[in-house]
Amino acid sequence: MDRHIQVLPDKGAIIQTALQLILERAQAAIAQRGRFTIALAGGGTPKPLYEALAQQSLPWDKVWIFWGDERYVPPTHPDSNEGMARQAWLNHVPIPAEQIVPMPTDADDPAIAAQRHNQQLLDLFQPPAGTMPSLDLILLGIGDDGHTASLFPHSAALTVSDRLVTVGNKDGQPRITFTAPFINQAATVLFLVAGASKQAALTEIFSDTGDDAVYPARLIRPQGELWWLLDTAAAQGVPSLL
Ligand code: 6PG
Repeated sequence: MDRHIQVLPDKGAIIQTALQLILERAQAAIAQRGRFTIALAGGGTPKPLYEALAQQSLPWDKVWIFWGDERYVPPTHPDSNEGMARQAWLNHVPIPAEQIVPMPTDADDPAIAAQRHNQQLLDLFQPPAGTMPSLDLILLGIGDDGHTASLFPHSAALTVSDRLVTVGNKDGQPRITFTAPFINQAATVLFLVAGASKQAALTEIFSDTGDDAVYPARLIRPQGELWWLLDTAAAQGVPSLL
């Protein structure tokens, strides 16, 4: 794992730095493999990044969009990560519809939806038996509690290691989420973290003695590059960053 930590003045600087990192990796992936595969994060932090990406000129017909997690609501729901990304970015660029691969949330049982998406990804990537595909870039945030994607503290999803996709659980509310082992296959994982409310979680995530079950973002140790883009408000007071 090749870890990079950048502390930046504010959220705007995080977005601009993330934009450049994504554009560089997209151009390289397309040049090397003919496509760029990216999984999006939800929540509030990445929305201005998606709006900035909508203004870029990339070979959009070579870009494939996934989500690292999804609330178990229809894409039209205000909480939908898919809905937010489509409104901020994807509705404004000509990515072929079949290259936008949202997490299904229409099965009565979220476990069926997770299994269906798991199979959809296996069919799409055709990884050798017993291996997991490697996305080019996975965007993540962290909650104040140290969760990432929809891998919440003490949830069953934290121990799932034989699948790409599983069911997350936030206070009894179902989510669909990539598993930690699948995230860790990525060539690049990029965390965007802004705001003082993240300080306590960051302290535990970056400490040598934190508990992965309590702070699930600690589980993310990708085989490729790990980038943390933090603003000073989030990084302030984090011992390992002083
Ligand atoms: C989600 C996200 C989640 C998010 C963090 C941070 O579906 O909510 O995927 O993991 O990244 O909760 O959210 P903010 O960016 O709003 O702080």
